[in-house]
Amino acid sequence: APWAVVFGGPSPEHEISILTGLQAERVLTAAGHSVVPIYWSPTGEWFRVPDATEAKDYLEGAPRDSVVLEARVSGEPGLYRRKKFGAERLEIQAALLCLHGGVGEGGGAAAVFSLLGIPATGSTLFAGAVGMDKLAFGGLMHAAGIPSLPREAVSTIVEPSFAGPYIVKPRFGGSSIGIEIADDIDAARALAATSVHLRTGAVLEPYRPELVDLNIAFRTHPSLEITQLEKPLRGEAGSALYSYAEKYLAGGAGSDAGLTSAPREFPALVPEAVHAQARALAERVAEVTRLTSIVRVDLLLDEATGELFVNEVNSIPGALSLYLWAPQRPAATVLLDALTEARDRRVVF
Ligand code: DAL
Ligand code: MG
Repeated sequence: APWAVVFGGPSPEHEISILTGLQAERVLTAAGHSVVPIYWSPTGEWFRVPDATEAKDYLEGAPRDSVVLEARVSGEPGLYRRKKFGAERLEIQAALLCLHGGVGEGGGAAAVFSLLGIPATGSTLFAGAVGMDKLAFGGLMHAAGIPSLPREAVSTIVEPSFAGPYIVKPRFGGSSIGIEIADDIDAARALAATSVHLRTGAVLEPYRPELVDLNIAFRTHPSLEITQLEKPLRGEAGSALYSYAEKYLAGGAGSDAGLTSAPREFPALVPEAVHAQARALAERVAEVTRLTSIVRVDLLLDEATGELFVNEVNSIPGALSLYLWAPQRPAATVLLDALTEARDRRVVF
């Protein structure tokens, strides 16, 4: 039976999720597997879409198989495609959740699938929710003694405990969407009050432009495995933050089943001590968060001092992260191991 690849969803990262779904589909198909693509629209409708070719077809509302998925019909767990009369069960082994941001990445989708008896990749609701909440995650890192920058909620009542300039981030955001720099707390409050991305919650961090982004990933099945360390490279424009455009629009030829990679250094050209520390931090994050399946940990490095900080975690990392496994593991193996685990595990929570 085919694997389902689920992408889209009501989230600012909707489009990136489509790219991840398409790339996952490509990787699995190239490895000889059959895939049922399932698209979750921004308004929350589910579609069994035809073979995915171009992400923009979905974005531009090209004709889709206009059906609704029903999670359970006549008692038998599964995904169903509603027909004019009755419903047809989609025979899938498990669903690969490629949902970024929102309830999709925040554990909600995995929980709903699991509670309905549909095997799906991901983490528990609790782990996913904490991973999606920058404030809760920062607090968890702090409590566990894992090095991270100070992070506080933008409050209209309480003054921050550290001085500006600040990076202001959506508390529940991702993919650098909605991130701003503010010189002081008044500017941060003004942004939090006006930006559509910050209205559901904003966090403050010290703005330290000298820090360098580094990425590492882990997976938990068949056993804990950690990738090499990657340094994403900033564009020539030298933007202040590693931006959305740099992450997703920069392009560059990929080698593994047509994946497209953003400019990066891989493995990162940093001292061996940094590599070792990054692996140790990834292992600690895995232990403390209890995130499972495939997870990326974003780090910040002070190159002058060698200090490394955990910045955030991505419980459903974007397709570009699949590169992190090469040459250790082919991308298809990583996805299939996650899917097989989801299919075979009995107890989810
Ligand atoms: N949130 C995006 C998709 C990532 O970090 O990979
Ligand atoms: Mg992120």
